[in-house]
Amino acid sequence: MSVLDDPGLFGRLWADTYDGTDNPDPTAAVHFLADRADGGPVLELAIGTGRVALPLAARGLDVSGVEASEEMVAKMRAKPGGDQIPVVVGDMADVPVTGTYRLAYLVFNTLFNLVRVERQQDCFRNVARVLAPGGGFVIETFVPDPADFDRDEQVRMRSVTEDSATIRLHQYDRAAQTFVRQTIRFDSEGVHLKPFAMRYCWPEQIDEMAERAGLRLVERYADWHRQPFDSTSRSHISVYRK
Ligand SMILES: C[S@@+](CC[C@H](N)C(=O)[O-])C[C@H]1O[C@@H](n2cnc3c(N)ncnc32)[C@H](O)[C@@H]1O
Repeated sequence: MSVLDDPGLFGRLWADTYDGTDNPDPTAAVHFLADRADGGPVLELAIGTGRVALPLAARGLDVSGVEASEEMVAKMRAKPGGDQIPVVVGDMADVPVTGTYRLAYLVFNTLFNLVRVERQQDCFRNVARVLAPGGGFVIETFVPDPADFDRDEQVRMRSVTEDSATIRLHQYDRAAQTFVRQTIRFDSEGVHLKPFAMRYCWPEQIDEMAERAGLRLVERYADWHRQPFDSTSRSHISVYRK
């Protein structure tokens, strides 16, 4: 199975180190989501190790999740409260749950982990299926920067120490709006590859997918602190309603 088609790959490669990396503090996101949860229940797509879901549930909301990786879910289960959150292991594009939710959310650029436009569209359509009338869907993604894919490639150094070096390479396909990335570590034990892929979209393209699924954009900000979104914003938080 190729890196482009395997939703479980991320967890197999990253679950052991995910919580140790420099991930964003979820506090502002949790305030934002709790304000829009309308009492719940709430569904997180790609719940991961519970970075956002655990503090949201700690506020008394009924939070469930969908996640492709058993390895990521196991990390959440090992944390306080992590065994209280129901999770369906499956592909978020299918939204494989039967409940009705007041709020669903998909954060930290993870919409783009669906590397085919059809599956991104499926995801919106299936979220709309499980939302109560008036329910919200919150998306957080970066805004693509054409400078990143100038000449369809990018090479970045990640770290260099006495006994190792890590670089990150991106190969872009501008027509498909996808990239394949390799994070490559060289050390005394050899060369270690961590592949990853995304299909990036501009905010208007996300709005179109939402609109086709019956979800209307009602709020957009540059960050979780509700800074205004404008043409210089590098990310967006968008709220759609059914
Ligand atoms: C960057 S992590 C984000 C985790 C969590 N939402 C957070 O904000 O910390 C991306 C997550 O998406 C999951 N994932 C990737 N593709 C998926 C898919 N098609 N269906 C469900 N989960 C998926 C990965 O296993 C991983 O847990």
